[in-house]
Amino acid sequence: MEEERERWGSKFGFIMAAMGSAVGLGNIWMFSYRCGRCGGAAFLIPYLIILFLVGIIGLMVEWTLGRKNKAGVLDSLINCGFPGGKYLGWIPIINVFLIFSFYAVIEGWCMKYMVMSLSGELMAIDPGPYFGNFVSSYEPLIWLAIGIIATVTINSFGVRKGIERACKFMMPLLLVLVVILMIRSLTLPGAEAGIAFFIKPDLSKITWDVWLNAVGQIFFSLSLVGSTMVVYGSYLRSKDDIPGSALIVALGNTAIALMCGFVIFPAVFSFGLDPASGPSLAFITLSSIFQQMVGGRFFAFLFFLLLFIAALSSDVSMMEPVTEVFVSHFKLGRKKVTLLLGFLAFLVGIPCALLGWFLDLLASVVTTMILAPIGGIIVAVALAWFVGVKHAREEVNEGASIKMGKWWEPYVKYIYPAIILVILILGILSYFGIFEATW
Ligand code: TRP
Repeated sequence: MEEERERWGSKFGFIMAAMGSAVGLGNIWMFSYRCGRCGGAAFLIPYLIILFLVGIIGLMVEWTLGRKNKAGVLDSLINCGFPGGKYLGWIPIINVFLIFSFYAVIEGWCMKYMVMSLSGELMAIDPGPYFGNFVSSYEPLIWLAIGIIATVTINSFGVRKGIERACKFMMPLLLVLVVILMIRSLTLPGAEAGIAFFIKPDLSKITWDVWLNAVGQIFFSLSLVGSTMVVYGSYLRSKDDIPGSALIVALGNTAIALMCGFVIFPAVFSFGLDPASGPSLAFITLSSIFQQMVGGRFFAFLFFLLLFIAALSSDVSMMEPVTEVFVSHFKLGRKKVTLLLGFLAFLVGIPCALLGWFLDLLASVVTTMILAPIGGIIVAVALAWFVGVKHAREEVNEGASIKMGKWWEPYVKYIYPAIILVILILGILSYFGIFEATW
């Protein structure tokens, strides 16, 4: 049995796959609109604190549970005797599947804009009304289908030949794109105002809301919902370095988010636009910037290609935990499973693509603020209480370059789940309108 389980081919391959999962629309699109709405640099302070307090630990917790059990979340819960694990294990899996469905819709928009910049059409549209008409037409369904087919194709080749190979190609390309775009943006006239907005914090802007946005951002951005990173950890070998990789992936992910900030804010300020325009920032605000910029058509293509690559490598990581359950738990063939899941994701994606409110519902509170922390807590409790913190620490230190000391045990047992519990409670309160927050 065990020999049959796939493994990452190399340490580099694993890091690229994990970065592929982490770096996504969350870094480029969501990070910039949240940061814009939360006062720019002021957002970065809670963001960096939360990154160290929960982000890096969260990666370690999820990977350790997966590697210890050599299984995805469902079988891990069953193995370690988690009460009701057989049922509860489905929560993070269903959640990531729902995230996949709406995420693929937005990925479709990116592809559409990529093609429009290639053909030059983007340069002639009126960005606001155009985007409104596009998302309320049937066209997004076609792009959704293309995005899902791309994901299914990669995943059907398996962990090493599919996911790892694709990410080893996509992630270095992504880095090159970010660097080129950053240089273009930083050399625009008037870029300084955007740089200042992004690096000079106004401390009075750090409200509760900003903290919550930071926590939500870190969990989503590091794909910590209790399924993706568990399954990615399950393909690790005991000689692989979990803490070291967690540090690299968390910092690398943040570095890309910051670089994307240096792409977006200098450009937004240079053209006198609003950095707090919310989710439409990428598709409306930036489109109008590309229209006015020297070489805009070319840079628009690079930017939407960047978004597309980032989204595809994340999509792949959302599909894998679902695929893995059917492959290892139910012993079905991978090709068949990926095809079927792709079809199901398309069905769930249809209302997301056609109904704005349905997309918002899935994309906001339910999946990212309620189901995600539930998955996070389940995994943390399974590792700390059912595998046991002692065994967990032995496992995390196996192959580690930086060993976790004794402090790690109480931290993972009490503090980490408690922090997620707070987010969950606030998420539920804000869903029912008892607590006011903008996510
Ligand atoms: N981290 C990705 C982003 O920032 C999104 C993502 C990929 C994700 N895989 C996930 C989110 C699994 C939740 C669960 O865009």
